[in-house]
Amino acid sequence: MPEIDINNDPCAEGVAIVIFGVTGDLARRKLMPALYENFKHDRLPSPFYIIGFARRSWSHDKMRDVLKQGVMAHGRTRPIQEDLLQKQLENAFYVESTFQDPEGYVKLDQMLKRLGVKNTLFYLATPPGQYATIVENIGKSNLETCPDGWRRIVVEKPFGRDLETAESLDHKLHSVFSEEQIYRMDHYLGKETVQNILAFRFGNGIFEPLWNRKYINHIQITMSETEGVGTRAGYYDKAGVIRDVFQNHLLQLLSLTAMEAPAVFNAKAVRDEKVKVLKSIASFSQEKAIANTFRAQYVSGTIDGKRVASYKDEVDVAPDSTTETYLAARLFVNNWRWAGVPFYLRSGKRLPRRMTEIAIQFTQVPLSLFGQRNLAEEAPNVLVIRIQPDEGITLYLGAKVPGNVMMIEPVKMRFSYLEAFGGEPPEAYERLLLDSLMGDATLFTRSDEVEEAWRITQSIMDAWESQDLSNLPIYEAGTQGPHGAEDFIKDDGCFWRSI
Ligand code: BG6
Repeated sequence: MPEIDINNDPCAEGVAIVIFGVTGDLARRKLMPALYENFKHDRLPSPFYIIGFARRSWSHDKMRDVLKQGVMAHGRTRPIQEDLLQKQLENAFYVESTFQDPEGYVKLDQMLKRLGVKNTLFYLATPPGQYATIVENIGKSNLETCPDGWRRIVVEKPFGRDLETAESLDHKLHSVFSEEQIYRMDHYLGKETVQNILAFRFGNGIFEPLWNRKYINHIQITMSETEGVGTRAGYYDKAGVIRDVFQNHLLQLLSLTAMEAPAVFNAKAVRDEKVKVLKSIASFSQEKAIANTFRAQYVSGTIDGKRVASYKDEVDVAPDSTTETYLAARLFVNNWRWAGVPFYLRSGKRLPRRMTEIAIQFTQVPLSLFGQRNLAEEAPNVLVIRIQPDEGITLYLGAKVPGNVMMIEPVKMRFSYLEAFGGEPPEAYERLLLDSLMGDATLFTRSDEVEEAWRITQSIMDAWESQDLSNLPIYEAGTQGPHGAEDFIKDDGCFWRSI
C-alpha cells in the first residue's frame, strides 16, 4: 500500500467516522479491523474518533468490546497489539438511536461538537433499506455540511436492486449530498490486485500494443466462491448473482480491463474512461439476453471433503426459490478496440475453489510449424491476472520440450505478490477507508457508472422475467458448475478455464 501521510492533510485534523449500523457484521469483520490496521501504521489523523450509531441498547464499553473482538478475530496482521487497540478504542463512542428518530441525530451532532470534530465520514453499514431514512435525517439535521470542515458519506453496495431503485437512491443521496461527497464502495476496487490491473496496463509499454481485438481472442473473468449464502440468505435470495456481484464487481473488473488510458490519473479521468466502456456495452434484447446468459442453482454436494446443503435447504431461502447462485454471461464492448471480442463473465457460490481471475486469451499463431501435435494450440497464450488468492500474474507460453523432437508444451511465467513484495496485500477496506478520508474518489464508483451498470443488468433481468424457471438448471456443490454453461462459449470455439 502506498504510504499516505494523512497527517499532512491540513483539513484532516480532528476526524470522525460515524458508522451507522455499527452493531452489524460489517463493522466487526471489516471496518474495525481496517481502522485498526491503519491506526497501527500511523495512517489515521489524530485525533480520530469512531462513533457507532445503532438501535441496540449498548454502552460505549459494550461497543468497544464488540469492536475489539472483531479485530481479535479478523485482524490481518498478527499478533494483534492489544494495548494499541485499547488506545484506539478510547476514542470510540456509541450513539443509541433508531435511524428514524431525529433525536438520535441531535445526539450525534452534540457528540461531534463536544469532541471538536469538524471533518466527518458517515458510513452506511446498515441494510440498504435504511439508507434513504439515514440520508434524509442527516439532511434534516444539517449534518451534511460543516462550515470549516468536510463531510462525506460512504455507501456500501447494493446501490438499489434495479435501475429504478438505484436512480431513486441516487436522487435521495443527491438531495442531501453533492456527488463529490458521495463515496460508493465496491470493495473489489480496493483490492491491490485490482488496482494492479491499471499499473500493469498503463505502467508497462509491452502490453498496450497487444491489448485489442487484433491480438486478443477473448477474455474470461471468473469469480468463484466455495461459500454458500451463510447468514445472508434473506438478502441473497432476493438478489442472486446478477445483483450481488455481476452488476458491480464483475462489470468493474471488465471496465478496468477494457478501458482506455486516462489522460491523467485522477478520479475524474479514470472514472470517465470506465463509464465509456460500460456505455459501449449495448443493452440486451430479450432474445440476446437469453442466448448470452446462463444461470443455475446449486444442490448439495461436497466441498473440501465436507457435505454441504442444497441452496433451497439453506436457512431463510424459500423452498421453491428460483434464485440463481451461478451466472455465466457473454458481453461485447462495442468500440474500436474491442469490437467482436467476447468477454465471458461467470460467478457462482459453492464452486470447488475460491478464486477470482481475469484471463486474457491471445490469438493463436497463424500457422502451426511444429509437428502433428501442437500443444501451444491446445493451450494458447493466456495472461492470467490472479486477483485472489495467490495474488499475481501468470503468462502461459508454449516452450520446447527438451529432446530430439520439436514438441511444444505449455509452461508458465509467474509473478507472485507474496514472493515479490514479501507479504500478502492489504485488505481492500484499509485502502478504501483511507481514500475516503483523504477525499480521493478514484477507487469508488460514480453515479453514472452505477447507472450504466444497472442499465446493462436491468436488460438481462427484464428478459429473464419471461423465462420459465420450473426447470432452472442445477449444479452439484463442489463441481465446476452447471452443464450448459459452456454452450455459448463452446459455440465460439472456446472453453472455460478450470476453476
Ligand atoms: C460481496 C458479495 O460483495 O462480495 C458476496 O455480496 C461475496 O456475496 C463477496 O461473497 C466476495 O468478496 P471477496 O472479497 O471475498 O471476493
